[in-house]
Amino acid sequence: MRGFHDYLLLGLFSGAAPAAEAIPALRRLGIPDGRIKVLMPYPHPLRSFARPRPRERLTLITAIGAAVGFLIGVFLMVGTTNLYPLDVGGQPLVPGPPSIVMIYEYTLLGALSFLFFGFLLNIRTPAYWRPVYDRRLTEDAFGLLVAVTSRQLAPAEAALRANGGFGVRRLDEAGFFHRLRWWLGGQVSTGMWVGLVAGAVLGIAVLCAFAYSALQWIYPDQMVTQQSVGHQEGPRLTAPTAAVPIQGPVLIAGQPATEPLPASAASRERGAILFRTHCYLCHGNEGQGNGPLAGYYAPPPANFRGPVVPSLPPSEVFRVITLGRGVMPSLAEGLTAGETWDLVTLVKGPLPSPTAVP
Ligand code: HEC
Repeated sequence: MRGFHDYLLLGLFSGAAPAAEAIPALRRLGIPDGRIKVLMPYPHPLRSFARPRPRERLTLITAIGAAVGFLIGVFLMVGTTNLYPLDVGGQPLVPGPPSIVMIYEYTLLGALSFLFFGFLLNIRTPAYWRPVYDRRLTEDAFGLLVAVTSRQLAPAEAALRANGGFGVRRLDEAGFFHRLRWWLGGQVSTGMWVGLVAGAVLGIAVLCAFAYSALQWIYPDQMVTQQSVGHQEGPRLTAPTAAVPIQGPVLIAGQPATEPLPASAASRERGAILFRTHCYLCHGNEGQGNGPLAGYYAPPPANFRGPVVPSLPPSEVFRVITLGRGVMPSLAEGLTAGETWDLVTLVKGPLPSPTAVP
């Protein structure tokens, strides 16, 4: 496994000078500068360790954030307007000045949020992992933290000791996660990865639960969730006194309708067609109560030629069709008031003969 650094070595030194002397020894073992970290008890110029300037990533991260924000801004202002073009009455589809403002805002938002999180990453906060720490580091000892491969382990340990390193400790954090951790710039524990993955799964699960309505957050922004009055449900507003109904009178639940449409031939013709759709299955071709479904009802569908129906006032027939009666369901859903009156005309007038039914 040459080239991979599977171990962390921590060596303590009594001052900056001995620590500085150990660094070339480590370099000679082929350990690059990026794998050696100097831990200081107090700020001390890095120059004295002959160290390269630490890599500055914050500027790059901020620039990437700005670019991401810029692209999001462009997408929202230009992309979406082109994806969902609206009729803008001859105006430019993408308005110039407001777009510039919005793109600027998004660029800034991207840059600042990346800067913020990049800064957290840079100072390695929050630190969930077991820190590489020795109390003496805060008192007066300088430390060298070296990431080594298994082959470099023994010589590096010896090099630290030979240059006055004491309290040399080895942290066995081998494997993929360790490399990833170093690459990310921090010591992220396996537990943290498990936590991250579990958190992501949980987050997705919660989102899915909302998306598929397993979880609901009901807030009254839709008319359906507000207090309302259902179909055929009282109390209802009465029509203004001067209102003129278009098709017969307005039916008020529980009250008989009073003014049927004139029983014209055209009305009867329409009624015959509607009868075929809405009544035939129960009441039969000629309204004798012997339709294909009649056997399923007790009492059976009424025979329109029987003793009861001819004696019913038209308003009562209207009411039965609209509200239903006993086991006969309400048919109001599929019929307008005018169509209902056409059916009343049919039921009260001469009944359809089989040939008259389309
Ligand atoms: C799902 C079957 C079914 C359909 C569809 C149906 N009816 Fe009925 N109808 C019945 C049954 C059952 C009765 C007997 C109810 C009772 O006596 O309790 C009945 C009774 C009636 C009565 C007599 C009411 C009374 O007061 O005795 C009339 C009038 C009537 N139906 C008209 C119609 C008309 C007009 C249609 C079509 C628009 C229609 N029905 C559609 C099943 C149906």
